[in-house]
Amino acid sequence: MTVPSGAAVGFPITRLRRLRYLPAMRGLVRAVHLQPQSLVYPLFVRHGRGIKQEIASMPGQFQWSLDRLEEELAGLAGLGLGGVMLFGIPATKDATGSEAYDEEGIVAQAVRLARRVAPELLVITDVCCCEYTDHGHCGILAERGDRCDVDNDATLELLARQAVCHARAGAHMVAPSGMMDGMVAAIRRGLDAAGLSDVPIMSYAAKYASAFYGPFREAAESAPQRGDRRGYQMDPAAPAGQALREVELDLAEGADLVMVKPALAYLDIIRLVAERFPGVPLAAYNVSGEYSMVKGAAARGWLDERSVVLEMLTGIVRAGAQIVLTYWAKQVVHWLQP
Ligand code: PBG
Repeated sequence: MTVPSGAAVGFPITRLRRLRYLPAMRGLVRAVHLQPQSLVYPLFVRHGRGIKQEIASMPGQFQWSLDRLEEELAGLAGLGLGGVMLFGIPATKDATGSEAYDEEGIVAQAVRLARRVAPELLVITDVCCCEYTDHGHCGILAERGDRCDVDNDATLELLARQAVCHARAGAHMVAPSGMMDGMVAAIRRGLDAAGLSDVPIMSYAAKYASAFYGPFREAAESAPQRGDRRGYQMDPAAPAGQALREVELDLAEGADLVMVKPALAYLDIIRLVAERFPGVPLAAYNVSGEYSMVKGAAARGWLDERSVVLEMLTGIVRAGAQIVLTYWAKQVVHWLQP
């Protein structure tokens, strides 16, 4: 006898609405559960004192100076979040982004602060050059005849130094986001040589050249001064399988977790990576533009923010992401409380 699948039986025996009438019944058969410990909250830190400067294109998100960040971290500590992701705005920018690997750089200081005031909070740092370079690109620039491009291999050394700097300051995990070939291997080697072999790497493995990063570039003051990032970030119209190659290579280089970014226009990529690499923790970045467009519509009364956000995050998790980086992390914790 074959076991009947739900699909084999039709109406009127099968009535899918039976499981939808009661809230408790819907709850019972739910498969996707948002939980605070799967959410990572991005934070922007800068030098100075008394600064909690709202980012115009991201209402409710701020650039923090360390003294104000301290209060924020203390408030975050008890929420049960998966962690925070730190982005730094340096005091000065130069061609090689030297503050990025300075022990007194803003991120290193913020990491030490976080470890002191919120010891139970997982601290992740973004490892990239774009916030630190005066030209705003994710690596060192090389002039190549008629084009000006990021020098992949020369950038690797800087990324490794930055990761080591963050990990020495106490970062629990580093997250390279520059889409340089070989970045994970270079960082792994750097960390291991520094005696930091226990620090995992979350690679922004499949990161697309996206217009949805617009508001972030205001937040992190990291817009490229000329050109764009299409020479290193992925083409949205590339074959989906290219994302699998990126993930595969990063894993071979020693990535412990991988990320797909942005999330909403790339749910197919999330699903593909989740299915192909079921044993690898997968994160998705619900990026700044995804935040701003909902905020903008909600402010005009066009959308109900809470419902829309919970639905979007549910979709990202249902697609296969276990971890979601989102500017709503803090608010979601409150929304999820019964
Ligand atoms: C740095 C970086 C970016 C984001 C995360 N890390 C910007 C970019 O690549 O231009 C975007 C995050 C967001 O939009 O929320 N390379």
